[in-house]
Amino acid sequence: MSNEPEIRKGLAGVVADYTAVSKVVPETNSLTYRGYPVQELAANCTFEEVAYLLWHGDLPDAGQLRKFNEEGRRLRELDQGLIELIDALPTTCHPMDVLRTAVSYLGTKDPEPFTTDSAHISRIGLHLMAQLPTAVAYDARRRKNQEFIAPNLDIGFAENFLTMVFGDGEGSPATNEKDIRAFEKSLILYAEHSFNASTFTARVITSTMSDTYSAITGAIGALKGPLHGGANEFVMHTMLDIDDPAKAAEWVNNALDNKQKLMGFGHRVYKRGDSRVPTMEEAFRELAQRHDGEKWVQMYDTMAETMDGRTGIKPNLDFPSGPAYHLLGFDVEFFTPLFVLARVTGWTAHIVEQYESNALIRPLSAYNGEEQRSVPQR
Ligand code: COA
Repeated sequence: MSNEPEIRKGLAGVVADYTAVSKVVPETNSLTYRGYPVQELAANCTFEEVAYLLWHGDLPDAGQLRKFNEEGRRLRELDQGLIELIDALPTTCHPMDVLRTAVSYLGTKDPEPFTTDSAHISRIGLHLMAQLPTAVAYDARRRKNQEFIAPNLDIGFAENFLTMVFGDGEGSPATNEKDIRAFEKSLILYAEHSFNASTFTARVITSTMSDTYSAITGAIGALKGPLHGGANEFVMHTMLDIDDPAKAAEWVNNALDNKQKLMGFGHRVYKRGDSRVPTMEEAFRELAQRHDGEKWVQMYDTMAETMDGRTGIKPNLDFPSGPAYHLLGFDVEFFTPLFVLARVTGWTAHIVEQYESNALIRPLSAYNGEEQRSVPQR
């Protein structure tokens, strides 16, 4: 029998713990949040209802939702300190860095950041869910020398955010109910996905009994990478680079010939297609019809067909959400921050779960460096 330890690179296939937040079943391409299929949630719920579901385990009734919305919406305004901090950050840095810094700052202002109390952590989640959209919108507009649009405390999450970024003038997605719903669907689909890299990062940090802000700051860092949340930006950079749908097949073939990875394709868990793609793809196609985006649909289809034909690898959620966000009018470097606005809900649910049944996350490694040796006498 070999003494070699079994190494599971990237922890692939390792079951690290139980979770009751969401269930991914790759064999049936299914994803449920607290037992509800994500497609049904996207079709029937607001993003706030889904946040409530993730934190409280069930969908709210009308009274619970009203209270949840009242509490959350009045937390939307930024304090002057955060506005000045964002202003001090260079506009050359990535918006994810601004967001990471904003969460870190908010942690310094909380008199009780070290709580392990579930209700208190859900309140931190609600605070971040309210503040981060305002911070992202503020950052987006300052980069274009546009005046800040203050949050509206009386309207839903998606509409308020689109209004803060784009205003409510003619042509703004904030004035079109279908655009608002398309964006809201993307938020619902991005909200939660079990032990993905950023959620696992949040759980690792929480497992040391560190605080929620540290866990979420770390999670933002993990999400930024192109193999995770950063992929939605790379998808659009690629599409803008290809520019012409007639060149898309050749581009994919060249990339594969050169052993390049195509962003927005493949998944560690789903090997036969990402359960979230059909809903987002439909939203993207509808957006394209309303916003003269046939070019991106053609490119999307050609890239997906060529990739499938050559490798059998299917698109993941970032593939339709990239061009969908482009059609809504977002600058590409803001696509991953949009993912944060949604995923902060899932991260918070996992932080609560980790505290409730904690064990320090600390795997082993197999050493393959120099054998023990003595320092030479000089
Ligand atoms: N483009 C090209 N080839 C890909 C690919 C992609 N997007 N995704 C996987 N593959 C290939 C790999 O090159 C590898 O081929 P090989 O066995 O010949 O070396 C094989 O498929 C297995 O890939 P691997 O990276 O080991 O699988 P994984 O489970 O670790 O990868 C991802 C999961 C997400 C990291 C990977 O699919 C990827 O990098 N995708 C692009 C980034 C992305 O869209 N991320 C968002 C995920 S939601």
